Amino acid sequence: METLLAKPSEKIIEKACKLIEDKQVVALPTETVYGLFADATCSSACENIFKAKERPMDNPLIVHICDYDMLHKVSSEVTEDALKLANEFWPGPLTIILKKSDLIPNEVSAGLDTVGIRMPRTPVILEIISKTGLPLAGPSANRSGRPSPTNAQYVYEDLKDRIPMIIDGGSCDVGVESTVVSLVGEKPIIFRPGYVTQSQISTVLGKEVELSKGITEELLSDDKVLSPGLKHKHYAPKAEVTIINAPFEKYKEKVEKDGVVAMCFEEYIPKLNCKCVSYGKEGNSASQALELFTALRHLDEIGAKKVYAIMPTMDDIGLAVYNRLLRSAEFRVINL
Ligand code: TXA
Ligand code: MG
Repeated sequence: METLLAKPSEKIIEKACKLIEDKQVVALPTETVYGLFADATCSSACENIFKAKERPMDNPLIVHICDYDMLHKVSSEVTEDALKLANEFWPGPLTIILKKSDLIPNEVSAGLDTVGIRMPRTPVILEIISKTGLPLAGPSANRSGRPSPTNAQYVYEDLKDRIPMIIDGGSCDVGVESTVVSLVGEKPIIFRPGYVTQSQISTVLGKEVELSKGITEELLSDDKVLSPGLKHKHYAPKAEVTIINAPFEKYKEKVEKDGVVAMCFEEYIPKLNCKCVSYGKEGNSASQALELFTALRHLDEIGAKKVYAIMPTMDDIGLAVYNRLLRSAEFRVINL
């Protein structure tokens, strides 16, 4: 199958709508990362998503909507807390897990009775959802296990000849995937940290919000897995990455002594005598989130074998950065 890579235009959007209606998949930009989308109400359309990216079938998909009518169609129980969060953060980088409706097939929910729902903010996807009248199921548009794509070229690298179309809407604004918060348990709980933070959610809800086990440590095989995404291998470049938790001087000594590639903050580059790939500015978690996946792909482009990544700060958006970096490092951390 040949993959059409095109900038958005009226004609291209029409073509994308037609593909979606024909149960095919299309890759589209969102403000977080590029996603691979299909009709969320159709099992066979959603199976095509899993096939294209070789995703394990036990990992549920997020359903993307364009308005509140659709929210009530895909969830059987839209709680007051859900509306509070939606009003504050939608359209935007927050996925809310609620009880699913019968409209959502098992392929999307991976057999769970819940569904993750998000209203993204980029105009192209909102227009396609609205024109087709279909909620769109969509994971990140990478080959399973690879870093999520933050531009159309990265989608093309991973999925060329496996999907019919990629719409190129430029680089994403956020750079890491949405925050995933579940509202179906006794207490709200974050399954995946993102741009919308624990404290922002807690402030809007006026109650405590928990962080799921598995965000900052590896789940053990007998841990109960609330969100399947936490247990899968993720974001891995070809290189072996290790996180170094150390002040600059010690980090410098270690990377230079071991002769590895430094994955570090921009400001470090002129001060290090080794190959460097930067992932944003020191002390600026939003810029680190924006650069992280590009940096991980860049490591492959320069053929890096062994990499030491400097530890990011872990508050607010930094937690999302650390969570992704930790997975790309397969949980290797050295404290100096
Ligand atoms: O920003 C994003 O969320 C992007 C864009 C394309 O919207 N999508 C994305 O999807 O990152 P994906 O499939 O790569 O990640 C979805 C995560 C997985 O970790 C999955 O396990 C979790 O959300 N998830 C989805 N539905 C769930 C559910 N019903 N219960 C628990 N976890 C769920
Ligand atoms: Mg993903």
